[in-house]
Amino acid sequence: MKILGSTALYGVIGYPIKHSLSPLFQNRLFEHVGLDAVYVPFEVSPDKLRTALEGLKALNVRGINITIPHKEAVIEMLDFVKEDAKSIGAVNTVKFGERTEGYNTDWIGFLRTLKEVMDDVKGKKVLVLGAGGSSRAVLYALEREGAQVFLWNRTKEKAEKLSEIFRVEVVPSPEEVISSVQIVVNTTSVGLTEDYQIFDYELIQEGQVVFELVYGRDTLLKEWAKRRGAIYLDGLRMLVYQGLESFKIWTGCEPNPKVAFQALEERLN
Ligand code: ATR
Repeated sequence: MKILGSTALYGVIGYPIKHSLSPLFQNRLFEHVGLDAVYVPFEVSPDKLRTALEGLKALNVRGINITIPHKEAVIEMLDFVKEDAKSIGAVNTVKFGERTEGYNTDWIGFLRTLKEVMDDVKGKKVLVLGAGGSSRAVLYALEREGAQVFLWNRTKEKAEKLSEIFRVEVVPSPEEVISSVQIVVNTTSVGLTEDYQIFDYELIQEGQVVFELVYGRDTLLKEWAKRRGAIYLDGLRMLVYQGLESFKIWTGCEPNPKVAFQALEERLN
């Protein structure tokens, strides 16, 4: 990588940011497309978010990804927020220019990953576990595709709040619908912080799609999905696909997914 006077700057801000894989594949994409640009991580604490955005603008940074915990808070600091990001209530991509624009590409990454294993999501029955920030991107994508969604959350009130925004049926327990759905999506942090069976994993069926948003972990859900003959997906492909969409928004170039996956494979193996 050559950094010149003309090199355009991109990056990702989060807190913490050390474990982000985005710089790895975004830089490879810039290189592959032949753009004179670099992508760097910025660790920004929540109380510095506004100052950081102003600084990035002043430094003529072209675009950034936004990750935890800033995706919601950044919205009110932007000049323009695209409709889908507004509905989801979170922005993961910012483009700087005449105005500072916010986009959400998480839901696109989710859908593209899902569509690698099924042609159509329309009419499919889906159980979504969790009603936090990432659940909203998933619910937005599924509603857009015309899926029939059942939503479960440990704190039922939060699921009910989301049912006022998205077309979902709140269920009192995952067990109630698990045997009748084609897809199960785990958006909770179970598997990340602590790991236990959110429902009786023996009820997972052969051929069901089990999609877990965390990645790079041998979770109980992953173990059971495989044992039961389900199709297991995790958040890694979603991470890459959301990043490819961000890249497109910033540069107008259509990057090659294989290049990004190759960069990650080299690192993770
Ligand atoms: P994210 O942005 O990753 O979605 P979040 O907004 O903090 O993170 O949401 C975390 C989700 O994981 C919530 O649905 C949360 O359930 P509650 O609303 O009941 O807190 C869920 N979650 C976290 N720990 C959990 C646990 N031990 N068991 C079940 N659900 C859990």
